[in-house]
Amino acid sequence: MSALAGIKTIKDLELANKRVFIRVDFNVPQDKATKAITDDARIRAALPTIQYAMEQGARVILASHLGRPKPGKRDATLEPCGKRLAELTGYEVLLPEDCVGDAPKKLISELRAKQIVLLENLRFHEEEEKNDEGFARQLAELCDVYVDDAFGCAHRAHASVHALPKLMREKACGFLMEKEIDKLGKIVSDPDKPYLAILGGAKVSDKIAVVEALLNNVTALVIGGAMANTFLKALGKDTKASKIEEDKLALARTIVEKAADKKVDLVLPIDVVVAADINATEGKTVSVDEIPDGMMALDIGPKTLALIEAQCKKAKSVFWNGPMGLFENKPFSGGTFGVAKAIAASKAFSVVGGGDSAAAVKDAGPEVEAGFTHISTGGGASLELVEGRKLPGIEILRSAQ
Ligand code: 3PG
Repeated sequence: MSALAGIKTIKDLELANKRVFIRVDFNVPQDKATKAITDDARIRAALPTIQYAMEQGARVILASHLGRPKPGKRDATLEPCGKRLAELTGYEVLLPEDCVGDAPKKLISELRAKQIVLLENLRFHEEEEKNDEGFARQLAELCDVYVDDAFGCAHRAHASVHALPKLMREKACGFLMEKEIDKLGKIVSDPDKPYLAILGGAKVSDKIAVVEALLNNVTALVIGGAMANTFLKALGKDTKASKIEEDKLALARTIVEKAADKKVDLVLPIDVVVAADINATEGKTVSVDEIPDGMMALDIGPKTLALIEAQCKKAKSVFWNGPMGLFENKPFSGGTFGVAKAIAASKAFSVVGGGDSAAAVKDAGPEVEAGFTHISTGGGASLELVEGRKLPGIEILRSAQ
């Protein structure tokens, strides 16, 4: 069964003159002090759906959350996103002071050509995260048609992505959501083999479920980033000052055993770039058997990268989530950028999960970016799909048969 079975796409809906509610994920990273958007990839990714709806003559209403505002606090306004959207599209973006009630109703009723309404942060209302039906009804009053293009929130059973589409008769996914479901669906349920998964990031504990799921499906599994330190220690290496999770050593050993049982080729670092602390301005490459006293591993080394490159050359499918080291700091970025380049250079069907690894692919430049089959906009959502879970924001669209 196709991952998109039973889900209408925006092209299946009649949009002309309709009030079209498009749930987007404009939860973008911002500079703490200035609130300037530091990566607008999620806004850009929603443009095809927004532009299509506008071209069809829809009255477009966009809605998103931003950050995790505390109850009663209205400090995470969507204003910077509205401004960026206006720059990218040339449309006038109108931002009512709230996402429900009279203010948006009035703006929507007066909407003219080349104007879009962007509702204020949905999470200014606690009912959003509670999946509250009453709140969803208030949102439903604003629109005739519902389109979900917010893949990044598909793992959340929140009002705007669950209770609201449940109420709507006319509903569909947007182009971004369609692509995410299609590409991630292929890698989850029908990957061409050999299938290589590359996992990194800080903690083993964040990735247990995904590792368990991948072991049933992959040909080879690379573990890098700080989470690899816990595996190295579990296998008896002296990791010195490296960050490890003491309480996950037994789990790491179990994963190593399971990989052997399932004949999965498990690749762990054989060399690492070390330094005395995370702010160091240079690193030293050493074997994992020779980490000097007082030093910590902050990136994978070139010999490990060569192993990963060889795996990428053999692979027909690659899934990557999580950086190989502290890539924000240049001396420790070689592993992460090297992995991005190796995947881009391979002929494999390649998907990178959102978050840091997707940002690293973009930082690596347009050529590397173009080498990926799909760069997901969803961090948590893409991991949950790879774990084999059903996501509430996707399943609720499936009733539209
Ligand atoms: C994300 O950034 O992963 C999504 O926008 C979901 O945000 P949340 O983790 O705050 O629910």
